[in-house]
Formats: sequence, C-alpha cells, structure tokens
Amino acid sequence: MIIRQLDTQSASHLRALREVVDVTGTMGSPKERETALRLETIEALLEQPHETLGGEIDGVLVGAATLSLMPEDPWDDDGGIWFGVSGVMVHPDFSNRSYGRQLMMACLTLAADRGARGVLLEVNVPNPLARRLYESLGFDAWYTSENAYERGGQVFDRVCMKKLL
Ligand SMILES: CC(C)(COP(=O)(O)OP(=O)(O)OC[C@H]1O[C@@H](n2cnc3c(N)ncnc32)[C@H](O)[C@@H]1OP(=O)(O)O)[C@@H](O)C(=O)NCCC(=O)NCCS
Repeated sequence: MIIRQLDTQSASHLRALREVVDVTGTMGSPKERETALRLETIEALLEQPHETLGGEIDGVLVGAATLSLMPEDPWDDDGGIWFGVSGVMVHPDFSNRSYGRQLMMACLTLAADRGARGVLLEVNVPNPLARRLYESLGFDAWYTSENAYERGGQVFDRVCMKKLL
C-alpha cells in the first residue's frame, strides 16, 4: 500500500470508501453517517486545516485517515499543539493486513513532524478492533461520553483516547 496525502480530487473515491467501511455503529448515528457521507463534508476534510492520508493499492483507494489541528490545547494551557485523528478506515476486502496500523502510524509521524504534543481520537464503543489497534499504538482512554449516540434503537458510548508524542 502506498500512503499519500489526498486532495479534493479524491473526494468521490473517499466517499465510496466511506460507504463500504461502516460496520455496526462505527460511523455513529444515522445522522452522523449521513453527514460523513456528504461530498461537502468530505471535501472539507481534504483541505486545510485537515490533512487526509490515503492508502492506495494499484491506484485504488483502500484506506484513509484524517489528521486535524485541534483549535486549542485540550490537555493543559502550556501552549502545546494537539491534533485529532478521525476517519480511520480500511476497505473490508483489505482488512487485517496491517493497513490500518500503517495509516495510523503515518498520521502519528505527520503529527510529530507538525510539532504536536499529542494526538486525540474518538472511538465508538461497538468497535473493539479499532480500540485494540489504538491501544497497541499507545493511546489511552481519556474519558467516555456515555450514551453518545443512538442507532437502531440502541444507545452507545464513545471513548476519547489520547497519546502524548
Ligand atoms: C479499524 C480498522 C481501520 C482496522 O484496519 P485494519 O487494516 O483491518 O487493521 P490492521 O490490519 O492494521 O490490524 C489492526 C489489529 O486488528 C486486528 N484485526 C484486523 N482485522 C481483523 C479481523 N478481521 N479479525 C481479527 N483481528 C483483526 C489485527 O490482527 C491487528 O491486531 P494486531 O496488531 O494485534 O495483530 C478497519 O477495521 C476499519 O476500517 N473499520 C471500519 C471503520 C472504523 O471503524 N474505523 C475506526 C473508527 S474509530
């Protein structure tokens, strides 16, 4: 897999990828899913202050992850900068081949290059695989938003995780 920074020309490919990666509850509520699939939402993620990395095999987009500068230091007020990682996804046909790990590591490297003090992300609770991946990369659970969203008549928690660089 080749990882490169995507621009707005990749919006429709990223949208197509987003449509197929949703496993139970991972994209949140139906409303969040709808927003996440809107082309204007996706185009915004492909522009500053976001940087979206795409993983391609033979020119086909099979994975992605977005790094975003946080508006303020969520940790303390020592002036350090923090980034958020979101939209980590790998096409189901290519799962369990370390591509998710590679994309996350590329995001951490990029954040370090940008001088980040740390990185935050959110993981929906019905997603133990993603959570295990983040824990294995050194992320710790920071706080849990209980009953963060509803989907299919069930409510789910969402966990915020952080990693100091
Ligand atoms: C979460 C996700 C990005 C992981 O991507 P991936 O490329 O399959 O993950 P990796 O191959 O890098 O594997 C990461 C870990 O998960 C395990 N894993 C991945 N797929 C697995 C599967 N189908 N069965 C069992 N274990 C699996 C791997 O063994 C690995 O663990 P290890 O490092 O201890 O060996 C991918 O499943 C995905 O896109 N999910 C849907 C979208 C999503 O939920 N994104 C996260 C939002 S917070």
